Amino acid sequence: MCGIIGIVGKQNVTERLVDGLKRLEYRGYDSSGIAVLNDGKLERRRAEGKIKGLEARLSQDSLDGQAGIAHTRWATHGIPNETNAHPHFSGRVGVVHNGIIENFLDLRQEMSHRNFTSETDTEVVSHLVDELLGQGLTPKDAFALSLKKLKGAYAFGVIIDEHPDHIYCARAGSPLALGVGDDEMYIGSDAMALAQLSTKLIYLEEGDWAILTPESYVIYDLNDKEVERPITIISGGPAMAEKGQYRHFMLKEMYEQPETIGRTLANYIDEYRLVSNMPEALDFSEFDRVIIIACGTACYAAMTAKYWFEQIAGMAVDVDIASEFRYRKPVLAKRSLFIAVSQSGETADTLAALRYCKEAGVKTAALVNVMTSTMAREADIALPINAGPEIGVASTKAFTSQLTALAALAVAAGTSRKTISSEQQNELVKALIHTPRLVKQSLRLDADIEKMAFEFSKAKSAFYLGRGTQTPIAFEGALKLKEISYIHAEGYAAGELKHGPIALIEDGTPVVVLAPFDGLFEKTISNLQEVASRGARIMLITDPEGAEHASSLADDLIVLPKAADFIAPIVTTIAVQLLAYHTAVHLGTDVDQPRNLAKSVTVE
Ligand code: F6R
Repeated sequence: MCGIIGIVGKQNVTERLVDGLKRLEYRGYDSSGIAVLNDGKLERRRAEGKIKGLEARLSQDSLDGQAGIAHTRWATHGIPNETNAHPHFSGRVGVVHNGIIENFLDLRQEMSHRNFTSETDTEVVSHLVDELLGQGLTPKDAFALSLKKLKGAYAFGVIIDEHPDHIYCARAGSPLALGVGDDEMYIGSDAMALAQLSTKLIYLEEGDWAILTPESYVIYDLNDKEVERPITIISGGPAMAEKGQYRHFMLKEMYEQPETIGRTLANYIDEYRLVSNMPEALDFSEFDRVIIIACGTACYAAMTAKYWFEQIAGMAVDVDIASEFRYRKPVLAKRSLFIAVSQSGETADTLAALRYCKEAGVKTAALVNVMTSTMAREADIALPINAGPEIGVASTKAFTSQLTALAALAVAAGTSRKTISSEQQNELVKALIHTPRLVKQSLRLDADIEKMAFEFSKAKSAFYLGRGTQTPIAFEGALKLKEISYIHAEGYAAGELKHGPIALIEDGTPVVVLAPFDGLFEKTISNLQEVASRGARIMLITDPEGAEHASSLADDLIVLPKAADFIAPIVTTIAVQLLAYHTAVHLGTDVDQPRNLAKSVTVE
């Protein structure tokens, strides 16, 4: 959420800053900007909208400088326009910021004698540093003292006109990495932004701040004490993920799922011995309870895992939305394992929940896609999903990999807690091994689903129903539809509809029913009939046996391959992803970068 990048060196930095911004665009794309120091003078270009707008601006009016900072924005305070776009300038100081300054109104009040030009919280930072410089403080002291006055979450890059060879930066609550080069130093919101610039990264810790020159960097901790932080070598400069033959990243990422699920599995099972293969640090016999915390799509993976851990491992499971968790002061039972589920590993609320549990002495694990992320670094155990970079803002392959990893963890839990026999373990692992093949077969329904999506895209509102492990997939199907097609959609446990929402069903309302032929099939079909008899247009997503029993009840029918009950939710996911995707394409929305969204949500 908001991406920042900075370079201080001896050559022109503009082009490389723009390249870095493109790598960060997934973090927000409502405006962008770049500022450089040119002969000791601050100059900037900013543009509303995506980075291509900024490129167009730069092509008319270029910028040269050997130190610069750049930003791609996801608006929090102030509408997305050029005036509110970063970098913000005040006197001698230019700043880019990711996060929220919670006490910005108080600071604005204190500095009411100054001329504020934007509606942002960020602008107080440039004013603060400039004000302190005006009082005669050195840039280092002005920056350090400014940080002490700020409340909230931030990652900053700051340049000052009288100090052209320096970038000042800080991190508290929002991610920031330093990159070490030859005669150049860098800052960036993530490793991907810096991938083309440096393979030597330093992840700043909470409260750290630093001063960079082309040849050096000095890092200070929360107490302004000079500190060393380890250098992480990242495997060198991966090319920016490409769409290849696919029209959208989302489509490409959906098609990658047979492979990504296979990669996830390779971490957690031994396919020859048909047993789960867990990291040594994770012994489920030490725990009676699991607390799984996540946001959005990742939370639906967590909700599915609740069924698995309860049924397979007999463990009590609490699942909560991260933004609610710590504010309700949860009672944390002894012998609990906390699992944060997060594609990015940076989501502010999930990270805060992890820290809350860690402080309370609970053992923590982070199931993440980005292994260099803050969660992976701070949790006691980092659990990879290995789905590879996910660029489409709507999560697809990360979700099915999260499900796969959680399913394998549940089997491991059942095994070490002895709630399943070794034969049962073998059966469950076998089911997992079949997942990539079944997902591949499900993707072959693409063209059929595309046709059905045409009618579906005319809807104003849609419902998704499921039971058991299909319930969270109904939630996910509805979320995918709303976020990329902007059609209002709700997912419900099928049995819950008659407790109120059924009032919304009228002639032609589309209802997507997820009903593989399992132990709950008949009950789900009864719920289907309740809505069908009130005029709903039914899209039934089932398997061959389910189709045999209920195809006559469906207006549209999607027949997925037969899957074991255990992994059926992963297979059903493919159908709801394709349905949302094709609906959005029919409607002509921006599938990979839907309005108002950002991929990595680093503010609360
Ligand atoms: C929806 C989506 C979001 C994320 C959520 C959590 O398609 O991608 O709901 O799942 O913002 O993000 P991570 O997994 O990075 O913590």
